[in-house]
Amino acid sequence: MSSDTASRIESEVRRRRTFAIISHPDAGKTTLTEKLLLFSGAIQIAGSVKARKASRHATSDWMEIEKQRGISVASSVMQMEYRDCVINLLDTPGHQDFSEDTYRVLTAVDAALMVIDAANGVEPQTRRLLQVCRARNTPILTFVNKMDREVRQPLDLMDEIERELGMSVVPFTWPVGMGKFFGGVLDLGKDQMRVFSPGEERATHDDEIIEGLANPVLEERFGSPYMEAASEVELVREAAPGFDEAEFLAGRQTPMFFGSAINNFGVREVLDALVDMAPAPGPRPALQREVQPGEPKFTGVVFKIQANMDPAHRDRIAFLRVASGHFERGMRLKVVRSGKELRPNTVVSFLSQRRELLEEAFGGDIIGIPNHGVLQLGDTLTEGESLQFTGLPFFAPEMFRAVEVADPLRTKQLRAGLTQLGEEGAIQVFRPVAGSVLLLGAVGQLQFEVVAHRLEHEYGVKARIMPARYNVARWVTCDEADGGERELKRFIDGNSHRVALDAVDAPCVLLEYAGELRAMQENWPKIKFHALREHA
Ligand code: G4P
Repeated sequence: MSSDTASRIESEVRRRRTFAIISHPDAGKTTLTEKLLLFSGAIQIAGSVKARKASRHATSDWMEIEKQRGISVASSVMQMEYRDCVINLLDTPGHQDFSEDTYRVLTAVDAALMVIDAANGVEPQTRRLLQVCRARNTPILTFVNKMDREVRQPLDLMDEIERELGMSVVPFTWPVGMGKFFGGVLDLGKDQMRVFSPGEERATHDDEIIEGLANPVLEERFGSPYMEAASEVELVREAAPGFDEAEFLAGRQTPMFFGSAINNFGVREVLDALVDMAPAPGPRPALQREVQPGEPKFTGVVFKIQANMDPAHRDRIAFLRVASGHFERGMRLKVVRSGKELRPNTVVSFLSQRRELLEEAFGGDIIGIPNHGVLQLGDTLTEGESLQFTGLPFFAPEMFRAVEVADPLRTKQLRAGLTQLGEEGAIQVFRPVAGSVLLLGAVGQLQFEVVAHRLEHEYGVKARIMPARYNVARWVTCDEADGGERELKRFIDGNSHRVALDAVDAPCVLLEYAGELRAMQENWPKIKFHALREHA
């Protein structure tokens, strides 16, 4: 590789920022996403974000929107250029039943933007997503939205975020008033006030700026809300720690911004902060070694699979996060798991107005490879090296159903359909080691409905989804030192009536009550029980 190529890869990686927005439904994720796209000039995609959101509230709407998967695929990943950076924004599915998918998406980002509804504070979905980010030490920026409404006191919100999410919060801006009296934000770093004016149609550069946080004009114009904000800022400056980059990068400290996404207010500051503070793609762990993004050879990992636009063709798009090297359209790639070779020619790019992005990608970018089942969740692609990236999580399901086909002649189609839906991560499929009825495992009820719907419409199988008696699942393993495979086999043989194999043949014990698990752990001290399986 020439040194030119090497330095090009390095500099392309350095200007990448790959992140996701996490929030509770209705906090304003869709609105903020649209504004980010507007600010970066990728306006035409913004419409599609809204179109999809419009039909995402209920199950029936979800089914409808599945018919428009084109939109949904196109806006799952959005790439935009802002200042000198290439920003990849990954969508996280909003419905909590799809949280598994969301967790996997979060493995593909280097930072997250947390949106909090200033009236509601920390909500359950935010809390859950935050835990995943924290577990991975993902740096988090916080945007407190909807300051144009009657909301909670900023000190109160700050306190709640610190307490509930276990991070220290460093305000970068501070609101002056709220609702009808929302005057704008004090920018603590720039020592100026950015004055709020409502309206979506405003140009994005025309915020009025008043220099100097102690400028007497501020008191004259904004009265007691300003006085209050100024004294809060003083308090916060004394009590809160200063910004510490290392703490931020470790996910222990979050910079906080206030604004109103719908009014385009405070959005540019967040975008600037992402560019200035969020990390460029870093090394990624594989079983064999750590992979650096600047390495010359291409590597990447599939973190999401989505059925494509035309259900009749069953083609799917595998979303791949580039981990290293330089991806070029038509290059020869190896699927490490199967040894199969792939020459993706029609790679989906996510920015329609810049054709050259279809041709190449670098560390941190997301590429979509259409395929007919060659690629599975967790697959590693390389130029030939045997490498397996780790860290893609599968969660032990909390709900189970037995599944049978109404017409026994279509059993084959049922199995084929379930295998593919399982590979997509839409549902987990278990084959009991004793018995022939397949079991479905999910973390949310909606998953079963979606699977039944898709089996019927995509695979022509009317499935009977029936209650199953299980409520708890744990993957089981045994360390070499404790007897390894032999002890595991002894366990499986001894519990064959409640052990099943998942999509990659990993054994899993299925139980009715959590209490049974404790008894089992006592009886089988050498067996390890896992609520989470990482793809290996
Ligand atoms: P989500 O993707 O996180 O679910 O939230 P979304 O952006 O759809 O926003 C949820 C609701 O909050 C929307 O209202 C949206 O207009 C509103 N919203 C977003 N940002 C702000 C803000 O800064 N201030 C105020 N006052 N409202 C905001 P909706 O009535 O549910 O939908 P719509 O009819 O406005 O689209």
